[in-house]
Amino acid sequence: MKVSLEASVNSSLESSYTREQALTIAKQEFAAATSPSDSARLDAELLLGHVLCVASASLYAWPDKRITVSQWQSFWRLVQDRCLGKPIAYLLGRQGFWTLDLQVNVSTLIPRPETELLVEVVLGLNLPVQANVVDLGSGSGAIALALASEHLQWNVAGVDQCPDAVSLAKTNASKCNLERVKFYQGNWAQGLAKEASKPLHCVVSNPPYIDAEDPHLQQGDVRFEPISALVAGDYGMADINIIARQAAQLLAVDGWIALEHGYDQGLKVAHLLTSLGFYSVSTEYDYNGHPRVTVGQWQNKRA
Ligand SMILES: C[S@@+](CC[C@H](N)C(=O)[O-])C[C@H]1O[C@@H](n2cnc3c(N)ncnc32)[C@H](O)[C@@H]1O
Repeated sequence: MKVSLEASVNSSLESSYTREQALTIAKQEFAAATSPSDSARLDAELLLGHVLCVASASLYAWPDKRITVSQWQSFWRLVQDRCLGKPIAYLLGRQGFWTLDLQVNVSTLIPRPETELLVEVVLGLNLPVQANVVDLGSGSGAIALALASEHLQWNVAGVDQCPDAVSLAKTNASKCNLERVKFYQGNWAQGLAKEASKPLHCVVSNPPYIDAEDPHLQQGDVRFEPISALVAGDYGMADINIIARQAAQLLAVDGWIALEHGYDQGLKVAHLLTSLGFYSVSTEYDYNGHPRVTVGQWQNKRA
């Protein structure tokens, strides 16, 4: 079936398409796209549900209901964007992370399931009841907000260099009723306001850690995410290096650093932390069996 915005219109109110037909057309478009989606059905349901403001179940409960012209036009634009490879989360403007429903936009990374492991690891550390925790490179606020949602007495702050990401994180804090989490704009720990900087019990970070030459940068969602959220110099280790050194200056005795890193950076990160004077250094594996999160504890000695 040849589909276009004009061809779809047979009245100023109703399009010629039912919900079921719209889903079928979208799935056909996704299958014919240059890089076909491997989740065509789900993508179609999410996008149509988003446009109609209904849950996916409702699409199947009333499959014969006609959609309006403007709904069809919005849907069709999203389908075309998805065919170009744009991430579903950016098209919907939201992403689930931990127990939170977060807004996302192109200012920063879409929070990943791997990063939930980082949250899990931090929640498992022996931190004080009123711990001071800082998330460096906070992006949408995912990590800081997830931690704060689990520990009402923790004092959690986030820093990001991108002003739009900071503004997004503040929006998410308010959406999640977690306004007590403060977000600052700045260059890693230099962006921390004085009251949030010392003594820290935990520095957590999912920094940019991909090498600029990594072929994965040309594939999937990352093509649409900001390079400043993904890439770091020195084979992806440059920002991890800066953060580890800053943590050594800011952590209280026995305070923790917890870093997400690339699947092939576990040994390098563990070696870096040990060489800076961290102890209890260990690495956790993600659900795909890759070394993903390395932690270490600071001792009573300045780097
Ligand atoms: C991999 S993203 C992580 C975002 C978020 N924490 C998450 O896990 O979804 C890295 C973040 O670090 C921020 N960033 C990059 N360089 C920075 C710097 N020099 N100082 C502060 N933040 C920086 C980016 O803007 C981006 O939001």
